[in-house]
Amino acid sequence: MSQAQTDSKTSFVLRRGRPHELGLLATLSTDVFHPRGAWFSILQNVKHTLIVWDLQAQFYNRFYKWPEIASSFEPPISEYRYALLVASLSNGNAIGMTELCVAPCPIDKDVLEGLGLSLSAPYLSNLAVMEKYRMEGIGKALVRWCEELSIEWGHSVIFLHVDVANVNAINFYKRLGFQQQTRDVTWYKRIGREDMSEQDQIVMYKLLDSNLHSLKDGKAIQDDDLSLQE
Ligand SMILES: CC(C)(COP(=O)(O)OP(=O)(O)OC[C@H]1O[C@@H](n2cnc3c(N)ncnc32)[C@H](O)[C@@H]1OP(=O)(O)O)[C@@H](O)C(=O)NCCC(=O)NCCS
Repeated sequence: MSQAQTDSKTSFVLRRGRPHELGLLATLSTDVFHPRGAWFSILQNVKHTLIVWDLQAQFYNRFYKWPEIASSFEPPISEYRYALLVASLSNGNAIGMTELCVAPCPIDKDVLEGLGLSLSAPYLSNLAVMEKYRMEGIGKALVRWCEELSIEWGHSVIFLHVDVANVNAINFYKRLGFQQQTRDVTWYKRIGREDMSEQDQIVMYKLLDSNLHSLKDGKAIQDDDLSLQE
C-alpha cells in the first residue's frame, strides 16, 4: 500500500519503483545530476545509459560488486537487500526517487564498534527530486522511508555519500539529523567505479531510533510491490 502525503503544496504518493519505469527514473536522475546543456547532450545520453544499467543491475540483484566487497568484511553481509523508492504524482509520474541497499559502512571502524554497530549498514544513494517540486517535503519523505526500511531490516544506522561541493544536499541532510563523518576519497574506487574516483565525497550517517520511526501519523508506510527484491 502506498501512502499519500498531503501536507505539502504538491500532493504526492510514496511507492516502490517498478520494472517498466527504470528508463524514466534514469532520465529523472540524469536530469537532476547531469543537467542538459546544448552541446552536452551526447555526454548526457552516455550518463543516462550508465544509470539505466546501474538501476537494472541493482533492481534485478545483478550488481555483483556489493556482495563481492561485502565478503571481505567481518561479519560478512549474509543477506543482500535493495529498495528503489519513488515519489510520484497521483497520475503515477515519478517526481522523486532514491535507492537504499545494505553495504559495507565506511564510517571509522572504531566509531562503529564504539556505537555497537555492525560493519554493514543501509546505504542511501541517488536521492533526486525534480527541481520544480523541491522544498515541498518530498526529499524528506523519501529519506524518512529509507530510515523506516533500515529499521525494518534490523539496522540502527543509515549512511550516505555526498559530493563535498554539494552544499545544498549537505545542509539538507544536516537538517534531517545526519552527521558528517569523514571525507572518503577512495569510495568509488573501492566499489569499482574508477571513472568517478576523483570525486571528493563526504560520508554522512544518522543513528536511528526505532521508537521514533515505528509509526508515522498513526500509519506505517508499507511495501506495495512484492515483486521487488528485498
Ligand atoms: C537535496 C534534495 C533531494 C532535497 O529535496 P527537497 O524535496 O527539496 O527537500 P525537502 O523539501 O524535503 O526539505 C526537507 C528539509 O530540508 C530543508 N532543505 C531542503 N533543501 C535545503 C537546502 N538546499 N539547504 C538547506 N536546507 C534545505 C528544507 O527546508 C526542509 O526543512 P524543514 O523540514 O525544516 O521544513 C533536492 O534538493 C535535490 O534533488 N537536489 C539535487 C540532487 C542532490 O543533490 N541529491 C543529493 C545527492 S547526495
